[in-house]
Amino acid sequence: NGAPGRYLVTEKMVRDWLPPRPAWAHKGSCGRVLVVAGSRGMTGAACLAALGAARAGAGLVTLAVPAELQDVVAVKLTEIMTVGLPGTGEGTLARSARNEILDLVEKADVLAIGPGLSRHLETVALIRELLPAVRVPCVIDADGLNALAGDVQILSRISAPAIITPHEGEMARLLGCPPGEISSRRLKVAEEAAGNWGVVTLLKGAATLIACPGGTTYINPTGNPGLATGGSGDVLTGVIAGLLAQGMDAPRAAAAGAYLHGLAGDMAAREKGMRGFLAGDILELLPEAMARVE
Ligand code: APR
Ligand code: MG
Repeated sequence: NGAPGRYLVTEKMVRDWLPPRPAWAHKGSCGRVLVVAGSRGMTGAACLAALGAARAGAGLVTLAVPAELQDVVAVKLTEIMTVGLPGTGEGTLARSARNEILDLVEKADVLAIGPGLSRHLETVALIRELLPAVRVPCVIDADGLNALAGDVQILSRISAPAIITPHEGEMARLLGCPPGEISSRRLKVAEEAAGNWGVVTLLKGAATLIACPGGTTYINPTGNPGLATGGSGDVLTGVIAGLLAQGMDAPRAAAAGAYLHGLAGDMAAREKGMRGFLAGDILELLPEAMARVE
């Protein structure tokens, strides 16, 4: 694999791809993730993404949110460092947060951006001005993608490897087409996006697709409809960032992230029943999912 073509993600692939955890590992060697996420009313998305990165094995995770929300997320998160960024006064990130974020990015190995950021106009401007200046691998999700609707060429200007993780609605917004037009041609849509924008394109849903700019597409077999629960996508964003931080390349981090996230969801369904498990249950079962594969 790695050659152009379409491949099912297998347990063996993920096992082979997972970076070893050497005896001499320390926090710094396992990667530093910066998560930029959250707004008033959507602090949970930010916390889930940060914890997803930590659960995937990143050494250090920092969550940056609008300053007025820092204490809220700090109370919810024990293992994650938090930073407060300039806000608009409405619980969203201000355009002026750009330089502070770039300073934080410099101390990180990976940036994950988007969950719960809102579609506030200032935040949209911030994201558009920030992304072309980012020099570390990044995962862009949710409102990080919504901000690019109408100016999607910004994705082509990101010089570092990037992964986008839209669901069908977000992909439709990026393409400026009706949401119904994606589902009947998911493979084509994902592969064209990856080729045109030069980013690994993970199109969510049952049989999540991971299309890579080089022409390789992975199809993920794990997961179940129980994953259709608020926050499960935010966990995935974090997991992929955590794998990137440990040195996986973007296509493999995205494909392995989808596989492990889905497997944890399958384990949650077996344990608690498919209907009632929560995004937090996926987080809790991620270590077991990784252990099963390894
Ligand atoms: N089968 C397998 N996997 C599924 C299924 C299914 N039927 N349904 C959903 N999933 C998986 C997806 O593949 C993805 O990994 O669950 C995850 C859902 O991710 P999102 O759609 O991003 O959902 P969520 O994290 O809850 O985000 C919702 O995103 O677009 C915004 O406004 C929306 O705030 C909301 C947020
Ligand atoms: Mg989402």
